[in-house]
Amino acid sequence: MKNVVLLGPPGAGKGTLAHRLQEEGFLHLSTGDVLRDEIARGTPLGLLAKTYMDRGELVPDEVILDIVRSFLGRQAAQQGFLFDGFPRTSSQATALAQIAQVDVVIYLDISKEEVVRRLSARRVCENCGANYNLITQPPKAAGQCDRCGGNLIQRSDDIPEVIAHRYDVYLRSSIPVVNYYEKQGVLVRVDASRSPERVYSDVIAALRNDCP
Ligand code: AP5
Ligand code: MG
Repeated sequence: MKNVVLLGPPGAGKGTLAHRLQEEGFLHLSTGDVLRDEIARGTPLGLLAKTYMDRGELVPDEVILDIVRSFLGRQAAQQGFLFDGFPRTSSQATALAQIAQVDVVIYLDISKEEVVRRLSARRVCENCGANYNLITQPPKAAGQCDRCGGNLIQRSDDIPEVIAHRYDVYLRSSIPVVNYYEKQGVLVRVDASRSPERVYSDVIAALRNDCP
């Protein structure tokens, strides 16, 4: 299996796609999910990360790289990593190049307007972390997770001012990462404004063409 990076702005659908790709056997790492778990457990790392995340700022590179090294170390020599939300700065991308090979980068292309619409309507289960969307993927019972019955809440960074700032940070810090992988010839652009099923089938086709 190949090592894959999912790139795209906040709300592009990286997490939604990653959860489906796990069924293909990929080992998923969402740096955002790891940080939210640290926050929920009240660890020193979580307390530090929260001060950045609640403002929509990036957590320092060295903190993120420790998380990635520890994940790669746990997986020993296995292949098939799926990075979601990492790398998102040029220095993270160059650091990753020194520790693992990136075979395919899926770039989820989407407008700012659609991102704002999706993130304003996103709800997550505070118990199991399942994602919903009040417009496109509502839960069966209002406010309740279909899987575990947990409460659905809004992420603390899904408020309008923070969403707008996260998008600006993405333009400033992560577009250079898109260009970096494009130059390497490993970037595949996918129109992420369509349904989750269409996005998934395009990505699977791209991975199969690219990964015979
Ligand atoms: P992170 O958790 O990575 O958040 P993000 O990149 O801002 O992206 P999101 O998780 O908000 O969106 P997504 O693309 O996963 O979309 P989703 O599938 O949920 O990072 C959070 C913070 O952590 C950062 O701001 C930073 O502070 C820190 N951090 C993390 N990694 C870092 C790093 N490497 N370096 C430094 N700091 C880091 O979908 C969104 C909504 O849309 C959902 O409601 C979903 O149901 C819906 N949806 C999804 N796909 C579709 C579709 N095709 N059609 C319609 N609706 C859809
Ligand atoms: Mg996500």
